[in-house]
Amino acid sequence: MFFKRRILQAEYFDALDRPASEMAEAYAMLAFVNSVCQLARPCQKLLPKMLGEERCRSLTLLDLGAGDGWLGNELQRWAAARGWNWRVTNLDLNARALSLSHNGQSVVGSALALPFRDGAFDVVIASQMAHHLATDDEVCAHFKEAWRVAREAVLLNDLHRNVILYAAIWLLLRLKRAPSTFLSDGLVSVRRGWRVKEWRALAERAEIPGARVWLYYGSRVILEARKKC
Ligand SMILES: C[S@@+](CC[C@H](N)C(=O)[O-])C[C@H]1O[C@@H](n2cnc3c(N)ncnc32)[C@H](O)[C@@H]1O
Repeated sequence: MFFKRRILQAEYFDALDRPASEMAEAYAMLAFVNSVCQLARPCQKLLPKMLGEERCRSLTLLDLGAGDGWLGNELQRWAAARGWNWRVTNLDLNARALSLSHNGQSVVGSALALPFRDGAFDVVIASQMAHHLATDDEVCAHFKEAWRVAREAVLLNDLHRNVILYAAIWLLLRLKRAPSTFLSDGLVSVRRGWRVKEWRALAERAEIPGARVWLYYGSRVILEARKKC
């Protein structure tokens, strides 16, 4: 079967020493792809469902592997348009990526060992981050840490590993004339992506009680879990 196993080929996104202009270009291209693929939608749709609209009026969120803070920016703007106050903290390994962010607070750090106390944020989110991790142990540590610092809920999502998504990303990036490094990262990302049963097993190993993992529109794997407050 196609893409049965994850590959672990390196991505340009993980090279911390890239020239600044190339890095800024890559994050700008990622923002374009995120917008076209409506990657803020899972949080916009699922958080009010999980927590209730009333609870969503004021929230603190931590975005793990936030890059240039695109997601937090979108969420804060979207929430503000509803009269809600969402305050997003961006965390990433890459200080130079965070310096491209225009909004929220930025913290340089690893999603595997978060520099925050237990329950420090109402909600912990992450988008397209877990596939950057090399081993199941690392993904497990990431899930555990996200759960630890969340007061109420975690909502994590990443790419589903499938051939249709691979072809769609290839086509989109060719039409957009993306730089070859970005095209390579886009395709490698899908092949480093996940299947639902893999995330279910990892969520179980991370001891996240009641974690729900499912396939979202054939393209993303979502993990959602709620704490009993
Ligand atoms: C593909 S980018 C996604 C950025 C952003 N979430 C988005 O969807 O636009 C993956 C990000 O994860 C970050 N990253 C990789 N490993 C990490 C780790 N262990 N802790 C924190 N960030 C990490 C990378 O530096 C990069 O900015």
